[in-house]
Amino acid sequence: MKQGLVSQNDIESLLHLPYGFAMGVLDVNLYPWCIEAMAAVNERGSSLALKAANGTGKTSRLVALLALWHAVAFKGSLTLVTAGVFRQVKEQAFPELRKYQYLFSDWKFLETEIETPTGSRIYGFSTDDAGRFEGWHNDNLLVICDEAKSIPDEIFQAIERCQPQRLVLVSSPGPRKGKFYRAFTSERRFFHQMTVTAYDCPHISDTWIQEQIEKYGEDSPLVRSMIYAEFPDDDSEQSVIPLSSLEACLDNPPEPEDGSAHAFCDFAAGGDENVLAVRRGNQVKIVKAWRDRNTMSACGEFIRLFKQEGLSASQISADASGLGIPILDRLNELGWKINRIRNEKPAKDTEAYANTGTEIWMLGAQLIKSGGVILPNDKVLHEQLVSRRYALNSRGQVQVEPKPKMASRGLQSPDRADSVLGALYQRPKKRILAA
Ligand SMILES: Nc1ncnc2c1ncn2[C@@H]1O[C@H](COP(=O)(O)OP(=O)(O)O)[C@@H](O)[C@H]1O
Ligand SMILES: [Mg+2]
Repeated sequence: MKQGLVSQNDIESLLHLPYGFAMGVLDVNLYPWCIEAMAAVNERGSSLALKAANGTGKTSRLVALLALWHAVAFKGSLTLVTAGVFRQVKEQAFPELRKYQYLFSDWKFLETEIETPTGSRIYGFSTDDAGRFEGWHNDNLLVICDEAKSIPDEIFQAIERCQPQRLVLVSSPGPRKGKFYRAFTSERRFFHQMTVTAYDCPHISDTWIQEQIEKYGEDSPLVRSMIYAEFPDDDSEQSVIPLSSLEACLDNPPEPEDGSAHAFCDFAAGGDENVLAVRRGNQVKIVKAWRDRNTMSACGEFIRLFKQEGLSASQISADASGLGIPILDRLNELGWKINRIRNEKPAKDTEAYANTGTEIWMLGAQLIKSGGVILPNDKVLHEQLVSRRYALNSRGQVQVEPKPKMASRGLQSPDRADSVLGALYQRPKKRILAA
């Protein structure tokens, strides 16, 4: 073959990729979101959580095509296709799979079961019996959960026990609970997240979208979910930073602007993390997050990082409670007299906020909601930002959820979020009252 032309090897390796296979072998045109979703599950060990507007092509363009790719790409592999209700598997997913039967004349196609001559199998399952998920092991196991919002947690536990090499959750957004929701919030670090709106799908007409918006309103829960693929807000569980605000801030960050530096240290207590976050202008980064049970060596590391970042003590604040105090005292002895912030102390705005910790979180939340900050690409941070709730206390002040209460919901101490929001915090100027 002449140089410069695509070699047979190139073609084969392209066809080995899920989107190469879908376009090259199945001859399907894919939208960019679908290519991204397929690329996200190419690697072994990958997990994808994709929420999408209604009728975007989840079942026909993603679930069905990934299942066929997996069966062809890995001989002897196993693909399980499941959904909240068996009807979805039998009447939606498998008919989409059978559309390609003409390309694979030597395969066995049954109602919810497909076998290839190379020993690969695709099985459709009902999800109301976790027991049926036991014992499926394979060197190449792909589990695809269509309409994952209605699959109960017990089924996901059973799926996890099978240790799939690839896991795909796709769904229209559902309630703010269950595995599918957690894949976007408290279990964010384990998944590649994607959101597909109606606007990402040229087959959904702008006229139809416009009609829905006029009929129900831009901010109606139906339109937020059906067109924009957002989880519905739930007023009974007020999040300091709603997922939709975080997503909007990450997707449309502002132009970087230079400005003064402000750093915040969060010191580990026991098994937690030491974190140093630095804001410069409208950009905030986590310089380092690490575990170290030895507070004195952690102290040395903080100083090394301060110097590396060119910070002076006056630009640095830190949480001065519990274990933080001896560390701050030691830093002071070593010439680093950094600002002490005590979360439980009254806020500057005593009318609005129950304490300083709340003020830091609520002002940070406002900044994120207004899309005014460039946040680091750190999934653990993102998880922590969206997991904390707030409530009004008896004096009518806003109060963020206490950490022991978060722990009782199975959440870790939000050290990275504390540092990032601490670095963003500019103490409000004292109000000058008219005489
Ligand atoms: N890329 C595409 N081009 C044209 N039509 C599409 C495309 N993706 C989906 N469709 C059509 O949109 C409809 C909904 O697809 P479906 O896969 O059932 O969506 P979902 O599972 O997201 O609800 C089907 O009629 C399908 O043929
Ligand atoms: Mg579907």
